[in-house]
Amino acid sequence: MREAIKSSARRSFCKAALAAGSALIPELSAARLREGSELLPHQAFASSFEQVPEFYGPTEVKFDRPLPEALQGTLYRNGPARMQRGETRYHHWFDGDGMVHSFSLQGNALVHRAKIVKTERYLEETRAGRFLRDGFGTGFTDSLAVLKPDDLNVANISVLPLDDEVLALWEAGSPWQLDADTLETLGRKVFSPETDRLPFSAHPRIDPQGRIWNFGYLSGSGKLVLYDLEPDGELRRVSVIDAPNADMVHDFAITKRYLVFVLQPLHLQPGNAPSIPFYERLHWEDGAPVHILVVDKQNLQVAHRFEVPAFFAFHMGNAWEDGSAIHIEVATGESFKPLMETIRQATRALPLSTPQAEPATIEIVLDTINHRAAVTRLPGSGVDFPRFDQRFTGLPTQQLFMMGRSPQMSDGVFGFNRVCAIDRSSESEKIYDYNAETLAEEHIFVPAPGFDQGKGWLVGTRYNWRCGRTSVSVFDAQHIDDGPLAECHLPYSLPLGLHGQFVPA
Ligand SMILES: [Fe+2]
Repeated sequence: MREAIKSSARRSFCKAALAAGSALIPELSAARLREGSELLPHQAFASSFEQVPEFYGPTEVKFDRPLPEALQGTLYRNGPARMQRGETRYHHWFDGDGMVHSFSLQGNALVHRAKIVKTERYLEETRAGRFLRDGFGTGFTDSLAVLKPDDLNVANISVLPLDDEVLALWEAGSPWQLDADTLETLGRKVFSPETDRLPFSAHPRIDPQGRIWNFGYLSGSGKLVLYDLEPDGELRRVSVIDAPNADMVHDFAITKRYLVFVLQPLHLQPGNAPSIPFYERLHWEDGAPVHILVVDKQNLQVAHRFEVPAFFAFHMGNAWEDGSAIHIEVATGESFKPLMETIRQATRALPLSTPQAEPATIEIVLDTINHRAAVTRLPGSGVDFPRFDQRFTGLPTQQLFMMGRSPQMSDGVFGFNRVCAIDRSSESEKIYDYNAETLAEEHIFVPAPGFDQGKGWLVGTRYNWRCGRTSVSVFDAQHIDDGPLAECHLPYSLPLGLHGQFVPA
């Protein structure tokens, strides 16, 4: 009986919160009020993409408790948002047109804005009133030919803040410039004539001096493009290297002297038949190793090569040198094809047929003198979205923050509801579990003033699929198990996204 009363009270609270937001986005709120409490677990993930408007805000909400005074600034986040045009829906999370959000912490309030990134693809499809080309995970029988990488570019993975602009990043095409305040799309970012329209990946790394390092891949080329940029984004150098297994490369890492690429045995099959999405044309070569390329920053040439037994991973944590050894943190996960199928089912609100990934964060240690590689498992229950104190990118770090799943989370729900903080020095972990009706997105480390590594806050967004509401939580990064220091609740839900960066005020 008590649970029934609590459940009834929760629904009433959710409806009241939604009603408060109904003036902003009536159609979204109406949909939630009609269906919100009746969602099944396998519909939870997809429900965040219902009726996403062209923009949100500005919307101001108050935190429930005072924020730390030094925590002022803006969290920018990107993610797939528009999944439907007319009656046609994308089948895969990674396909949706990107939407960039700003969550500005001002005093004890948060101001939220968001806008769709107006890429060439988005504008062309808006004029046509329909999707024109395949996505990463969706094929259309009448799709148009892809003539250049930007024909597919939806700018939906991450952001790179640069002075008064923010770049919306995809991983196989051009970055898109947005005004940092209004989030209005300004145009395609061109670093130089020679790099115009070359791919620029979604996980650039910024070294302690502020220099920006990145790469790009062009599937089927066997090449990686390497970028060395000034802190303001001015291009210093560009280079191209031969690389095996470079048909889909999502992330990389840097150390003081090196760029490190972990290249998995995914090979693009020939052919460009419409209706077969990109990821289905990627073949995982059973028995083939992962190739690791270590590139010297000085000359942008490969200095060392290693092979390790195969695993699949999207994301890497930090990397650093210890004498002649190179340490690399990698969030390995489920095999590529089963994971893609799980994401496709979750996006289509279908029951999930494959179990979700078990935590398996690893450290690879490369011995550059004896040319040996050792792989060990790191402790902890984090599955993906590794973050660390980015002021120490390429230098040894002790804390690794990740997202995971609590035992209470339904197997039918795709995503995460746990925040994890792994302490590398003590091999211990602190965790905080949101409730089972929450889908928590990447939580980002924001350093406190000073140079104490790991001292600061975690700032993250989360979506309650029962309420149909998105909230923002702030944790003390060294005591996440105490729960949030402060939270605020938007009067609407946001589409579940991918990555972000925090810019201090
Ligand atoms: Fe990523």
